[in-house]
Amino acid sequence: MTREQLEQAAKEWWYYTVELAPDLVAQGTYPADFPYMPRMLMRQAHLQGTDCLDLGSMEGVIPVLMHRKGAKRIIAADAVPHCADKMATLQQVYGANWDFRQIGLMYDLSDKLAADGQFDFVNLSGVLYHVFSPLHTLASARPLMKKNGLFMLSTNVVNEQSDVMHFNTAGKLQTEPNTFWYPSIPLLEYFLRYFNFAPIDCLYSRHPSNSPLHVAGKECGFISIVCRAVDPGTAVPSNDSWAKRSMLGSWEYTGLSKQRHDPAQAPSTIGYDLPDALKDIVASKGSIDLHLAVNELGRRVERAKRVEDTYLLRLNDES
Ligand SMILES: C[S@@+](CC[C@H](N)C(=O)[O-])C[C@H]1O[C@@H](n2cnc3c(N)ncnc32)[C@H](O)[C@@H]1O
Repeated sequence: MTREQLEQAAKEWWYYTVELAPDLVAQGTYPADFPYMPRMLMRQAHLQGTDCLDLGSMEGVIPVLMHRKGAKRIIAADAVPHCADKMATLQQVYGANWDFRQIGLMYDLSDKLAADGQFDFVNLSGVLYHVFSPLHTLASARPLMKKNGLFMLSTNVVNEQSDVMHFNTAGKLQTEPNTFWYPSIPLLEYFLRYFNFAPIDCLYSRHPSNSPLHVAGKECGFISIVCRAVDPGTAVPSNDSWAKRSMLGSWEYTGLSKQRHDPAQAPSTIGYDLPDALKDIVASKGSIDLHLAVNELGRRVERAKRVEDTYLLRLNDES
């Protein structure tokens, strides 16, 4: 691209802040020290040689980072191609390749992406609070996973010990009209386990108490979670017979989450570097308690300490 074209591109509205040339930055929407937790967690995933899917890509910063980490195949998907030109700019400037899929609303994902097969790593960040039915979205994303693959989910939550989900009644959570649900952290964990995702790492950042994003008297925040795609029924407690019967027999589960359990399918070998605070727990239990990790095991972030942990993508960053 010519310098003139890049300068023109930098004048557009950008979600991410992106360096387009050594002395040219397209300004995005986030403050300079705002932590980009999916980026921080994805750094720990061994993406070399893997099949990766990013759902809700905007301009494609996550696909650029997947490319940098050596992914073999990258699919970027979004409801509509609203960032097509900026995505093309990033691909060119960062020498990265991926295929784009227009998938409409974030439902029936495994049907819409059936031709793309299964993935070692799937990212669903910043999307779940935008859908009417988070369960339906998770249900349809699960069959996209290879056995033992990694699923990364990031969404807004309420940090409370409950199994409730708060609705954005009259815009009390966010005035943004495309926002619906904030689940409690334990309920979000239950959803994940119900779909055979075992959480193994997370990071949480609380919304400031003066933020307009809140439920009266409760702490809200943004959580990013990395999960292993495990065998059916093994992520829920052994005494939760309701979950197991529901997974096997409910019309919703069997109709909306057509998970393929082919014993002949080679499992993904994707690795993940766990933080010290969680290593022993994952080694002994296979998964973590998200509320505990956030509130007692230090998996919290306030402001980003390094530029590479923010929404700013630079030409010479490694990840
Ligand atoms: C807040 S951005 C998140 C971007 C990126 N995944 C990240 O975490 O940095 C929301 C993304 O979800 C998509 N999106 C928003 N509402 C949606 C909806 N109701 N159905 C499908 N996609 C939606 C947008 O096009 C956009 O790509």
